[in-house]
Amino acid sequence: MPENILVCAAWPYANGSIHLGHVAGCYLPADIFARYHRLKGNNVLMVSGSDAHGTPVTITAEANGSTPEEVASSYQEEFLQDWKDLGISFDLFTSTHTDNHFSVSQDIFLKLYEKDFIYKDTMSQPYCEDHQRFLADRYVEGVCPHCHDGGARGDQCDACGNTLDPKDLIDMRHRDCSANPVFRETEHFFLRLSAFEQQLLDWTRQQNHWKPNVKNFTVGFLEGGLKDRAITRDITWGVPVPIPGYEDKRIYVWFEAVIGYLSAAIEAGDELGNPDLWMDFWKDNARSFYFMGKDNIPFHTVIWPAMLLGYGGYNLPYDVPANEYVNMESQKISTSRNWVINLKDAVQRYDPDPIRYTLSAIMPETSDSNFTWDEFVRRNNDELVATFGNLVNRVLSMIHRNFDGQVPSQNNVGTSEVEINKLAEATLISVSESIELCKFREGLTHCMSLAREVNRYLDEKAPWTAIKSDRDSAGTTLNNSVNIINCLKTLLHPYLPFSTQALHEMLGLEGGVEKNGWTWKSQELTPGHKLGEVKRLFDKLDDSVAEEELNRLGSES
Ligand code: MF3
Ligand code: ZN
Repeated sequence: MPENILVCAAWPYANGSIHLGHVAGCYLPADIFARYHRLKGNNVLMVSGSDAHGTPVTITAEANGSTPEEVASSYQEEFLQDWKDLGISFDLFTSTHTDNHFSVSQDIFLKLYEKDFIYKDTMSQPYCEDHQRFLADRYVEGVCPHCHDGGARGDQCDACGNTLDPKDLIDMRHRDCSANPVFRETEHFFLRLSAFEQQLLDWTRQQNHWKPNVKNFTVGFLEGGLKDRAITRDITWGVPVPIPGYEDKRIYVWFEAVIGYLSAAIEAGDELGNPDLWMDFWKDNARSFYFMGKDNIPFHTVIWPAMLLGYGGYNLPYDVPANEYVNMESQKISTSRNWVINLKDAVQRYDPDPIRYTLSAIMPETSDSNFTWDEFVRRNNDELVATFGNLVNRVLSMIHRNFDGQVPSQNNVGTSEVEINKLAEATLISVSESIELCKFREGLTHCMSLAREVNRYLDEKAPWTAIKSDRDSAGTTLNNSVNIINCLKTLLHPYLPFSTQALHEMLGLEGGVEKNGWTWKSQELTPGHKLGEVKRLFDKLDDSVAEEELNRLGSES
């Protein structure tokens, strides 16, 4: 029975480019996972979209002299192009600024309000008397009480990383006019998180398949006590509060953004002409996986589950394989210092699979990791070109040269053949175990050890020499090698979708690799099978690439 697998990737703010850190931490693992499950024959729905609301987007719009809509829609287009270029295979990548998302969010808001999980209360918020309006956290600045940096915002201090409340700021001012705001009472809606504390704690403690850091962080967060939180803001950009009298307020961006996973599933079904599709992924028999960076953990393991429990009837997250961070050349990624590599630039200069390969190999699964251009060049040249590409090239070219491009027959199967086939079979199992546990680095390591073993087998058998004296033996070696290359194609497909598709065609096979299943025996290349044309799978990169790229980092863009 195929399983229903919902693959959720964190919604990027529609006010800045996707960079390689986001890719390695979130979008690439989600994509490998989705592609693997599709190969396995499971029903996969992979969704996300632009996080279009909230003050990050309005602040960018003000800085550019444009509107929030314009900012959000231009990044939406950029993201869609990014996914296409890197092969991130969303079934739907939508936006929170859609009618569908508005109505799904408002429905959840109202239902929670009816059930008294959302209630009205007042709170004091900074108010600018010059502008006569309440100020969202990001609109107030001041001196950080922790590190005394002068540029702290009402929500956090970028200098020391501490989360702040506007009340904490020393010498608070309005960022747009530098007047000193006053605190005034304002009415807001609150989510009764406190009601879910024990239930969430019991649930989290049972999640033994979660990564230790995700589970421990969540248990710690819950043990610290859950306070009710305001889920509306005095702003005009966002999802309107569906209750009369609150026209000048909007639903807090985090509250509605997480609902996006549900609204996107609904929209995906509507687009496919199957309006009930979403239920397959949200009710009963389905598992949902949420990919993200570690800063997003509490929203997905506490707030969203609390909302789902309050609403009732929908599945809680099955797993939240959050990742740590990627550094660039041993330094923290910083957009403001241009210490960052945006995906749109990377895909313009390099093929997608080498980018995917390197980022898979350094995925920050259990601790922060480091990207260097040197390593990118080395992995491309030593692993993709020399180990995998060269293996493919040697075997296919020899079959073309000596056997008229047809898979030769096997005549003398010996222990080496038995061994290498056993290894391929075992690798199919170990890679699938790794990917199912979201251990993508480990999965890739298994694939590459198989590739190295086939190279070793080939060197030992030396069909290029054997061909002169023992054509049967050379044929047997090439038959086994080409079949294991076919196995490697399947194994590597989730990681390297473009080059494995090219390889599929070079092997003389039709259609898409993903249609062939997570198997290898059902698509054995039998004697006489005609191979396709041999092409180069990967291009060698010049060492100068690393230096050029290093010079770009941190420079004025
Ligand atoms: N936009 C948020 C960020 O980039 C992530 C939102 S994930 C969601 O950190 F689920 F809330 F949408
Ligand atoms: Zn600080």
